[in-house]
Amino acid sequence: MILEHIHQLHCVAEGENRKGGSSMANSVVIENAWVRTQGDRIIGFGPMGGQPEFPADEPRIDCSGCLVLPGFVDSHTHLVFARSREEEYVDRIRGLSYEEIARRGGGILNSARRLQAMSEEELLAGARLRAHEIMQKGTTTVEIKSGYGLTVEDELKMLRVARQLQYELPMTVRTTFLGAHAIPLKYKDQREEYIRLIVEDMLPKVAADGLADFVDVFCDEGFFTVEETAHILSQAAPYGLRPKIHANELANSGGVQVGIAHGALSVDHLERTGPVEIAALRDSDTIPTVLPGVSFFLGIDYAPARDMIDAGLPVAIASDYNPGSSPAGDLQFIWSLACTKMKLLPEEALVALTLNAAAALDLSHEVGSIEVGKRADLLVTEPMESLAQLPYYPARNQIEQVMIGGEWIK
Ligand code: NIG
Ligand code: FE
Repeated sequence: MILEHIHQLHCVAEGENRKGGSSMANSVVIENAWVRTQGDRIIGFGPMGGQPEFPADEPRIDCSGCLVLPGFVDSHTHLVFARSREEEYVDRIRGLSYEEIARRGGGILNSARRLQAMSEEELLAGARLRAHEIMQKGTTTVEIKSGYGLTVEDELKMLRVARQLQYELPMTVRTTFLGAHAIPLKYKDQREEYIRLIVEDMLPKVAADGLADFVDVFCDEGFFTVEETAHILSQAAPYGLRPKIHANELANSGGVQVGIAHGALSVDHLERTGPVEIAALRDSDTIPTVLPGVSFFLGIDYAPARDMIDAGLPVAIASDYNPGSSPAGDLQFIWSLACTKMKLLPEEALVALTLNAAAALDLSHEVGSIEVGKRADLLVTEPMESLAQLPYYPARNQIEQVMIGGEWIK
């Protein structure tokens, strides 16, 4: 398959497996370009005029006026959930905070009750719809967390659903075990018992069934402490589960430092992050992942992504698609928030949504840029002058065609 006469081919990278600081604004672009795929791989690209003779019968599409980008990588989602929580949304409009709703047994515990009552088939059907929704918007790789089960059986059920999506969908899927998402009400006064359940019961079963690629803990005020997080992460390490943790959303909790100390691939959220955390990240390989959909939806501060990039860090951006804090899986919308609210340049945000997000999943050798040998995950936009038109329109699907693993799914 040949895509030709592409107005701008945004390759994003040339050999790097992540980009930090000022290099994020210099993403690799070829004007008037072609790209060629074979099977599920990219096998060539370059400027028009310089291309080799292609067989006359090889399918071609004319991309005049359009941009071609790597597929988006959503490195942090809770895509498997039972149902929406719009009643809590209305409570928040009336003045309750996210934390107050959580303290009275709503929030994550509300989602857990609903998920526990739902069959695996029903759960899969809902998650599948959401997966198709985000593929239509340009997501070609997705990470999916557990964490609404909170019992051994229900955590396993969630992870089986996520794994099933990996088998049946063209998207690349990675799964994360988040048993430490909230303390169930029944363990309210004996939290160490729930942590024992996570470590002694859930982790070995998750590992034995090969259900998770990574481990996560909600390390924040009112959820899990730094010490509890350290314990869970160190118990997960022998199973080969690298951490990707929720940190510094509600308070400057020490989550960033504990994640770094345990070799986390990423620390995510970071709405409450200052110079000390930024300095710690500079001395590490951990990717800071920001989730502007949460700040938009909960009305809280945005993570200081601009300061992070100015400090040289390789920032990633993800949707956090979930029913409580970010019911938005559309990465074009998230891109727009990152530019408008966090003051990222359109090119910087593109790197954050592709290459750096792939690095946050340890997948940047496979996806996240347009390079020979990488997976043929490509997006074709509607005709536009420049990349800035994508975040400029916050609520319009400007991705006209989506190729995942060499096949057009849109
Ligand atoms: O990433 N912060 C923790 N967990 C999710 C929200 C979970 C929920 O409210 O359902 C998040 O924001
Ligand atoms: Fe999350």
